This record gives sequence, structure tokens and C-alpha cells, in this order.
Amino acid sequence: MKTKVLMVCLGNICRSPLAEGILRSKVDSDKVLVDSAGTAGYHIGNPPDKRSIAVAQKYGLDISHQRCRKFSRLDFLEFDLIYVMDRSNFSDVAQLASNPQEAQKVKLLLSEVDLDLQEVPDPYYGGDDGFENVYQMVDQACEAIAKKLN
Ligand code: 4NP
Repeated sequence: MKTKVLMVCLGNICRSPLAEGILRSKVDSDKVLVDSAGTAGYHIGNPPDKRSIAVAQKYGLDISHQRCRKFSRLDFLEFDLIYVMDRSNFSDVAQLASNPQEAQKVKLLLSEVDLDLQEVPDPYYGGDDGFENVYQMVDQACEAIAKKLN
């Protein structure tokens, strides 16, 4: 059975599409399935933000085919691990859990690494350097996750 990992942020156009693309590039696709979703439905069906596509491309990853979807309660049945970017995502997702087993699947992405920050900052309203910063911290966390899962 594959381990199924879901990356979640607010819009599913900036942070979680990057996390999906980065983790997928580091794991064995026979063993690990990676997807992403947003807690909000503002951008359903849209590709990632062009700044996320650009920073991914800078590091050799193509995330342009991804499409935004909204997180659903059913994702608790489908996924083994649900990584959220910040505490606001954490509470939005955790409150949809039906039982403690489901709630235990939810983790802050940066809990996988020893950084000063615990949350991946939302880069949506900032400049391009926010996306580079997000890329670097998400990359470190995904490296740690891939080591565990591969
Ligand atoms: P994300 O960033 O949660 O990293 O995808 C955002 C994208 C869109 C919005 C907020 C955050 N928005 O308000 O539309």
C-alpha cells in the first residue's frame, strides 16, 4: 500500500502546490502518492500562482499542470498524512476531523525540521522573494519527509 500525503494551505495556489511538487520529486512514486488542497475555495480549478510556477521552474520542477481543489472531510479517509502550512490551516483542517485518529493525521509541515519558524508564511500578498523563502523551507521539510518515507 502506498503512503498517501496531502499538502494543505489556504488557497492551494501558492504554498501547497510547491510542497506537492517538491515532495513528489523526492519520493518513489511506487511507494508514495502526493496531492494538495486548500481550505478555501477561492481558486478551485485554477493552476498555481505564476510566482509559485516560476520558483519551481527555477529549481527544475514543473508544477503548472496542478489544479486547485478544496480540502474535504473525505480526505481524512484517503490520506495517511496531512501537512498544513500554518496554524490557521491546522485549525481549519483539524476541526473537520471526525475522530482523534483523523485529527492525528494533521501536522505542521515545519514540525519535520528544526527551524526557528513553525509556520510557512503566506507569500500571496508579498513579492517574489517570499516565494523563494517558501521554496527553501518547504524543500527542507520535504527532504526530511522523503527520508522517512522512501
Ligand atoms: P496559499 O496562498 O494559501 O499559499 O495558496 C494564498 C492564495 C490565495 C489567497 C490567500 C492565500 N487568497 O486570499 O486568494
